[in-house]
Amino acid sequence: MIEKMDKLSCSEISSAIQDNLQKFEIKILEETYSTNNYAFQLAMEGAPEGVVVFAEKQTGGRGRLKRKWDSPAYQNLYFSMILRPSISIEKISQVTLVTGYAIYQALSKIIPNGLKLKWPNDLMIHSKKICGILSELEIDKDSKVKFVIVGIGLNVNSELKDFSKEVAPIATSIYLETDCKQPRSKIAALLLDSFYREYEEYLKNGFSIFKEKWEKAAKIRGEKVEVLDSTPPLHGICEGLDSSGALLIRAGENLYPVIAGDVVFK
Ligand code: BTN
Repeated sequence: MIEKMDKLSCSEISSAIQDNLQKFEIKILEETYSTNNYAFQLAMEGAPEGVVVFAEKQTGGRGRLKRKWDSPAYQNLYFSMILRPSISIEKISQVTLVTGYAIYQALSKIIPNGLKLKWPNDLMIHSKKICGILSELEIDKDSKVKFVIVGIGLNVNSELKDFSKEVAPIATSIYLETDCKQPRSKIAALLLDSFYREYEEYLKNGFSIFKEKWEKAAKIRGEKVEVLDSTPPLHGICEGLDSSGALLIRAGENLYPVIAGDVVFK
């Protein structure tokens, strides 16, 4: 049986985000190198906050730490949002954390068990990655944030055979977790709706109210953790996030704030 191709639809996404519709301008590309690159270029040309670029397929999808992001056509969601928050550069990681929390909230409605945030930018289910976030920014000469591009890759309908050999053991999708294929436009709308609710709250009230919600969704307090790319390697017990969004690790007498890098929970 040939399954009907599930193409993203601007009108389907729009009709499902009625409450927040005026906040978005949605573009859907058939193929692009990376939606982050595309959105970055648009933002450089002056595109406003709220432009969201989706692609059916990316030929050069990128993850953090120069990793590749597999982006086969019509299976998953690959999109980038242009944001122009009036915040200082030190707070930029908070935008990624708030985005992760918004996705967590949205996905919890479909995947009730096992979903977890992983600092700083992943969503995991039983130690397998379902979603990654790549935030990139442009600053002006006074070190003020001009814009942030928040790129999201969410595995929606991929089957095990669709992942590359390297990715298959460490990745999962909504389909693999629920045994149910989803219309991607509906999932896109769910994510955008949730994102704008949390983002607005963040702009209005700051990060402090997210700190506790995030820690709870990541279940990190008291966990054993290792920071992989620090020299010397840092092992310790996680004490949650500080007020800026850095990960706090207790090693003996000392409490270290970790602001970047790869961490493994043991
Ligand atoms: C990571 O887990 O390291 C982040 C992955 C981010 C992937 C998304 S897909 C849409 C956007 N375009 C990209 O090239 N990357 C992000």
